[in-house]
Amino acid sequence: MSQTPNPQPAGRLTISSIARLYAEGKRIAMLTAYDYPTARTLDDAGIPMLLVGDTVGQVMLGYDSTVRVTMTEMLHHIKAVVRATRHALVVADLPFLSYGVTTEASLENAGLMLSEGGAGAVKLEGGERSARTIETIVRAGIPVMGHIGLTPQSIHQLGGHKVQGKTRDAGRQLIADAVAVQEVGAFALVLELVPEELAAAITQRLHIPTIGIGAGAGCSGQVQVITDLLGMSDEFTPKHARHYAELYSIVKAAAEAYQADVIAGTFPGPAESSRIDAATLDEILRVTPTSRPEMVESSRGIPLDRDL
Ligand code: KIV
Repeated sequence: MSQTPNPQPAGRLTISSIARLYAEGKRIAMLTAYDYPTARTLDDAGIPMLLVGDTVGQVMLGYDSTVRVTMTEMLHHIKAVVRATRHALVVADLPFLSYGVTTEASLENAGLMLSEGGAGAVKLEGGERSARTIETIVRAGIPVMGHIGLTPQSIHQLGGHKVQGKTRDAGRQLIADAVAVQEVGAFALVLELVPEELAAAITQRLHIPTIGIGAGAGCSGQVQVITDLLGMSDEFTPKHARHYAELYSIVKAAAEAYQADVIAGTFPGPAESSRIDAATLDEILRVTPTSRPEMVESSRGIPLDRDL
C-alpha cells in the first residue's frame, strides 16, 4: 500500500473520491472537526474526510455522553466545518434518536444534514438493526457511512466503553452487521473498539472501506477525535489515541504568559497599539468640563493626558 499523502484535489471530495482512494489501496485518514479554524487547518493538511461527530457533545460542549446532542447543535457545528473547508468530504453524524424511530424522521434529519448543513454524507450507528434505515436514506440519494462495534449512542445498553465482538457470538454478529450495512449501500463503515484481528477479517470480507478507531491497523483507514490527537485536555485519553501534539500545555502556558504580561502592564506594547497625532488629540481633549458637564463624572479616574 502507498504511504504518500494524497495531493490536494481541485474541488470538494465526494464518496467516489473515497472509493477511488480505497480502490488504489491507499489508507484513508479521517479526523473529527467541530469548528471553523480547526476544520480549515485540517483541510489545508489534506485530510480527505472530516467527521462532525456527535463526540462534539463531550469534547466541545461538556456533556457526559453523546446521547445529549441535538440536531440543532449538530447543524450549528456542521455549518462551521463546511464553511471552513474546500476539499474534505464532510460527514455529519446523525444524533441519538434522530434516525431509526420513524422512516420520515430519519429521512428528514439525514436530508437536513445535506440541505441545511452542507455536509456530503451522514453517519449513523448500528448494523443489522439500522439496515432498513440506511437503505431508505441511501435510496433518497444521501451517502451513508455506517458505524458498528462500540456504538456510543447505545452506551447505556452496552454498559460502558468496552471492546466489542470478543466472544464467538458477538464476533459473528459483528461480521453480520458489517455485511448488512454494506449490502444496503453504505459507502464506508466505522469499526469502533473491535479486536484488531476481527477488524482485519471484516475489512478483508468487505468491498467498502472500513475506518477504524481502536480497531487496529488492518482497517482501510483510521479516524481519531481531534482533541485526543492534539492533546487538548489534561483529562482522560483513550487507549487507542496517540497525542501528535500537546496543545493543553501549550495553550495553558500561553494563557499564563498573557496574564502575566497584562498584570505587569507589558501587554499591549507599542507594536499592538495605535497612535494619534498630538494636535488632533489636543483638539479632542479640549472639551471643557463646563461645556460637557456629564463628561466630568465619566472621565474621573481616566488618565486623559497620558501618552497614547
Ligand atoms: O462521534 C464521533 O466522533 C465518532 C467517532 C468516534 C467515530 O463517531
